[in-house]
Amino acid sequence: MKTTTSISDKINADPDRYRADTDWDTDAIVRRRETYYAASQRAFVPYSTPLIFKRGQDQYLWDEQGNQYLDCLSQNLCVSIGYNNPAVTRAVQQQAEAIQHCTTMFFHPVPAHLAEELTAKFPASEDWVVHFTNSGAEAIDFALLLARSHTGNNDVLSLHNAYHGATFGAQSVTGISGFRHNISLLNGIQFVANPDQYRGIHGPGLQPYLDDIDRAIRYGTPGQIAGMFIEPIQGYGGIVATPPGYLAGAFERVRAAGGICIVDEVQSGFGRTGKNYWAFLADDVIPDVVVLAKGIGNGYPLGAVVAKRHIAEAMADKFYFNTYGANPVSCAAGRAVLRVIDECNLIENANQVGTALLNVLKKMQQRYDIIGDVRGTGLMMAAELVRDRQSKTPAPEEMHQLFQFTRKHGLVASKSGANKNVLRICPPLCIQMEDVPFFEEAIDASFKDLYADNASL
Ligand SMILES: Cc1ncc(COP(=O)(O)O)c(C=O)c1O
Repeated sequence: MKTTTSISDKINADPDRYRADTDWDTDAIVRRRETYYAASQRAFVPYSTPLIFKRGQDQYLWDEQGNQYLDCLSQNLCVSIGYNNPAVTRAVQQQAEAIQHCTTMFFHPVPAHLAEELTAKFPASEDWVVHFTNSGAEAIDFALLLARSHTGNNDVLSLHNAYHGATFGAQSVTGISGFRHNISLLNGIQFVANPDQYRGIHGPGLQPYLDDIDRAIRYGTPGQIAGMFIEPIQGYGGIVATPPGYLAGAFERVRAAGGICIVDEVQSGFGRTGKNYWAFLADDVIPDVVVLAKGIGNGYPLGAVVAKRHIAEAMADKFYFNTYGANPVSCAAGRAVLRVIDECNLIENANQVGTALLNVLKKMQQRYDIIGDVRGTGLMMAAELVRDRQSKTPAPEEMHQLFQFTRKHGLVASKSGANKNVLRICPPLCIQMEDVPFFEEAIDASFKDLYADNASL
């Protein structure tokens, strides 16, 4: 068949005509955003003044004025293997030059390769399959639907302080009021006590938290449930890990009530904990469904639900698709991510550099009373600020101040937790040991500034 490429010929003959210029003037950037973004898109601004990024390379960022930062947030854990990663750029470029989108009605090999390569990262004792989405929240929605479809039950458990996303379904299983809108969300969702070993309602320990699951099932459901959502380490909740044995105990109870166990690895997955690809492996359990996003595509929009085959079969009789889910460009990025994590030993790097960074935070805790708790594993860690170590009263105002100082001293971090008093440190997995002294200087200088500004500290 004859092929015509007349539109391409036309564009290639005068490519500048189709170039969209970007205005990098600081005031213009702010004005345009204020004018054309909806309130919902403007609301999420962490710093007192706008921070504009123009360029990123590996673990570093540069603003539009040329100031350099050490990134300790990875764009909310999306840029898992670093900015401008050449393997990702190459994979994306090659794929974009071949075909930029291909719906799953047609049989493009790249997403299927990624599905095969992802399932190979899961325990070989099970038969896993993958459903790709565009985002984490879509993947959570899908997992919720799957749990209800597979079990025929409606009730679902989730944890206090959980964050699972912003869509109706994902918001319904999100246990932080700041992320829930004042409307009726989905029914049949029950929240159980978060086994937070620092400020959980039952104090440290395991059994009382497992008893809460028993109580929720016994008194708040028909005794049969669809499943339970758990982040092995809560991310936006402020880096709160489930204690050893919690996943195993929860899984046992959920399965006894007919439910499936859904683990949300959107933040904790892809080697971030410095131990394994997935955080659940540390507890020696096998979930039924695992939700992935963020780090999977190094910033390219992609989410995935990895499920045991017999469970996923529950959705065989109905159409369900997310239009761009399994987009070959995003999936090409995903394939490159897996290779870079493996070939560059980024999980071990996360372990080593993460331990060094955590030690810096622990040193700061000895120096500065305002740090009530330091916790984390690999490159997923936090320092929680409190007014008083005994009462553990959260210190959100001080956190906000400290946060501005970390920026001044060249760090990009995150303020998180239901009380907005947690400094979350989650750099790209490629951060190096050589970055640790800079991190220490910047963090120390930020606390010094905080203390200098607050006579009461
Ligand atoms: C643990 C967790 N699950 C789900 C989501 C939702 O992902 P997305 O924002 O891609 O919809 C997030 C987003 O931050 C998350 O942190």
